[in-house]
This record gives sequence, structure tokens and C-alpha cells, in this order.
Amino acid sequence: MTSSLATVAYIGATILFILSLGGLSNPETARRGNLFGMVGMTIAVLATVLGPRVTAAGVPYIVGALVVGGGIGLFAAKKVQMTQMPELVALMHSLVGLAACLVGFASYVDTSTVFATPAEKAIHEVEIYVGILIGAVTFSGSIIAFGKLSGRIGGKPLLLPARHWLNLAGLLVVIWFGREFINAHDIASGMTPLLVMTVVALLFGVHMVMAIGGADMPVVVSMLNSYSGWAAAATGFMLSNDLLIVVGALVGSSGAILSYIMCRAMNRNFISVIAGGFGGGAPAPKAEGGAAEPQGEVSPISAAETAELLRESKSVIIVPGYGMAVAQAQHTVFEITKLLREKGVNVRFGIHPVAGRMPGHMNVLLAEAKVPYDIVLEMDEINEDFPDTDVTMVIGANDIVNPAAQDDPSSPIAGMPVLEVWKARTSIVMKRSMASGYAGVDNPLFYKDNNRMLFGDAKKMLDEVLGALKA
Ligand code: TAP
Repeated sequence: MTSSLATVAYIGATILFILSLGGLSNPETARRGNLFGMVGMTIAVLATVLGPRVTAAGVPYIVGALVVGGGIGLFAAKKVQMTQMPELVALMHSLVGLAACLVGFASYVDTSTVFATPAEKAIHEVEIYVGILIGAVTFSGSIIAFGKLSGRIGGKPLLLPARHWLNLAGLLVVIWFGREFINAHDIASGMTPLLVMTVVALLFGVHMVMAIGGADMPVVVSMLNSYSGWAAAATGFMLSNDLLIVVGALVGSSGAILSYIMCRAMNRNFISVIAGGFGGGAPAPKAEGGAAEPQGEVSPISAAETAELLRESKSVIIVPGYGMAVAQAQHTVFEITKLLREKGVNVRFGIHPVAGRMPGHMNVLLAEAKVPYDIVLEMDEINEDFPDTDVTMVIGANDIVNPAAQDDPSSPIAGMPVLEVWKARTSIVMKRSMASGYAGVDNPLFYKDNNRMLFGDAKKMLDEVLGALKA
């Protein structure tokens, strides 16, 4: 493939990636967006492998790497549960960071590049230094995020004394050794500052994510997504690959925008999240299953009584959460919705921006179950309607409907906007026990007079409700 044809293919792939991002912004066009991304990536890989910069001798290595990497990717994608997706994404981000580091070291020791001027050489070295810096932070930060999301590492923020000073000292060390690196006369003497910086960057990545509380992990995942984009862009600069620069910048900036949206959804200040310490008191995610002490009496309800209440209602709002994903109850939810709508009940869904374990988690599940998009509303669109609602059904959700976020300034989730389900005439919470949710805090909603608890697996209980509704 000639160089101009490769450039045309790269421009085509870039356009497809932009269309892909546009498509992914709406559930109705998300499938098309995914398809654009897949076609764009295929064109990008083919144009690179068949392009002028790959010699015939290199092709078998690339094909071998593609088969091994593609095989691992396929296996992971088939095996992973939807609820484990954020962990997998964190692990993938770590690979992007690792790749940026390896490419950086390889470009530094590669003596085949000839530079026309000293300035050109210096610019290339800055690219290498910055690329390895971002890559190392992304790599170690993502590994820690994977550990926290999978419950292997505790969710409580690790707050070292004078942690901000430690970070500042790390930054100064990185700047100092950057100067040493640029001034080095040969590869051997430049290697020491490069290695020192890499170690500092790895430690910084660990420290940064360890200092972030469990409740703020959604922001961390999207922030690391952004970092991995910048790491890819830096790799693009090192390899003089325009497509990698553009795609890296797209991922980097869209990840940054997502982090901002997440922070707004959780009423967090982005800088404060990064500085760490928020989300304190949050145990490891696996602590679901009983962290906080129950603080009151609850009123249980049966599936038959739930069906009766639903049948008598004029308006119902369903609030799904992580538990609906675990139980895979979305199809039964849709069956119930269909039945109630046929009986003239106004059924709508209220979606919290951080419901579940990844952005858009609930939207994906409801779309899979074929719930019409026009009855699936965002938190801001539906929160005012709860006082005029007969029944709210909370299906496996906990933190996102916790009134303590509004009433208790000492709560780890204080200030996070929540769905105000308790304002409906009756709220019904479906979950298996009194265990806390991801943030590990007790939920005063359960003890309110107008709240009922439908205990059991969401799928099983909803099947019973559906049976009673049909009877
Ligand atoms: P959670 O607060 O985690 O609550 C989920 C509830 O589902 C649990 O209390 C659990 O109670 C119940 N549950 C689990 N399995 C169930 C089953 N089979 N049947 C019925 N119920 C079941 O979830 P949420 O309300 O969706 O809030 C999301 C939380 O995750 C927030 O704290 C958010 O910050 C965090 N987070 C979100 C993301 C993104 S991007 N969305 C990423 C990481 C973390 P039982 O054990 O008693 O059944």
C-alpha cells in the first residue's frame, strides 16, 4: 500500500471513529456507532500492517501478535459478566499505559532514526519522556483501579500523611530528571533519568488511585479512560502516526468530558476527587452483603401484595440498579411494564447516571430487553414527578436512592444527587437482604413509613409479581 493510500485510509478511519462516538451518545444509534468503530478499527489495522512502514519481514510477527492478542480479547469478552465490565475496562486501560511505556523505551534505544537538527531530536525525546510518564501513571493507576473494583483491594482511601507534598516532590523529581534526560549525551546516560522517572510515575499512579474512596470509583474509571487516550496519543507522537494521535486525543477528551459528567452526577469537584480522600468509610465493593448496621424497623411486602398495589396504580416509576443487572431481571421487568401499560398504567423508568457499575449500564440492559426509549428518563427529567407517583419500584438499587445523601452531611455519599423515590405514595425496594450497596452505607429509605421491602432475588420476585399480575 502506498503512503498516500495509507493516509486516505487513516482519514477514512478517523471519520468513522468520530461517527462512532456520535452514535454512542444515544441508545437508538449506539449499535450503528459500534459498527462504525469496528469498521474504522479494521481499516486502521489493515492500513498500518499493509502500509509503507511495515516490511515484509515484520508481517509474521504482527500477525502472530494479532492472533494471540485477539484470542485473549475474544476469550475475555465472552467470559466476562456484564457486572465485571468496569474491571475489564480498567485492565484494558493498563495495557494501553504499558504499551506507551514499552514503545517509549523502544523508540529511545532505536538508533535508526536520523534527526535533521538537534531541536528535532530534543522534541522526539520530550515526546518519549512525556509518553512514558503518562503511560506509567495509567498503567499502575489502572492496575490499582482493577484491584479496587474487583474487591481485591479495600475501597477505603489510603491517605498518607503529607500526601500532597509527596505528590509535589514527585513532580519536582520528574521535572529535574526530565532536564537530565534531555541533556544526556548518549543513550546509556539518558537511561538512568528515564528509569527514575518511570519508577516515580508508577508510584504516583498507585498513590493517586489508592487515595480515592470506593464511592468515587466511577470517576476514576472514566479518568483512567481519558489517561489511556492521552497515552495512546503520546505513542502516536513517538511513532509519528497521525491516526494514533487523533484517536488518542478523541479518547482522551471524551474520557475527560465523561469524568466531568460523572463528577457533576455525584456532586463532586473533579480536583478534589483526584486529590483523594472522598468516598471515605466505603469498604471494599465486595462488602455488599452487610457493612452498615440496620437502624430501624422495616415493613416487608409479598409479591402478591406488590402486584395488587401495581394493579391499582395510575402511575409507576421503576428505578433499576446494580441488583437488576446481577439478577438479569430486565426481561421480566419489561414483561411487567408491558402488562401494566396494557392496563393503562403510566409506567416510566428513572435512571441515575451512576446506577450499576458503569456509565449507561441500566440503559444497555433495558435496551437489550426492548424497553421503549421514550419511557426511560434521566434522573433530572423524572425527579420532580415522584410526588405525583403512586408506586416506585426500586429494583436492586441502593446508593442511588439513599436519602442520607441529602439529609446526612457526614455520609460518604453526602451531596450526591439521588432519585427521590420516597416522595411517591408507596415505594417498594426489591433486594435480597438489608445489606448495604457499593458505598457501604445504611439506607434510611428502608425504614420510612411509606416504604415496603420485597426481599429476594430480583428475577425470582419479579417472576412472582408477573405471575400474580397475570392471574
Ligand atoms: P448499589 O448501591 O451497589 O446497590 C445494589 C443493591 O442490589 C445491593 O444493595 C444488593 O442488596 C442488591 N442486589 C444485589 N444482587 C441482587 C439480586 N440478585 N437481586 C436483588 N437485589 C440484588 O447499586 P446502585 O444503587 O445501582 O448504585 C451504584 C453504586 O455503584 C454507586 O455507589 C456508584 O457510585 C457505584 N459505582 C458506579 C459505577 C458506575 S459508572 N455506574 C462504577 C463503579 C461504582 P442485597 O445484597 O441485599 O441483595
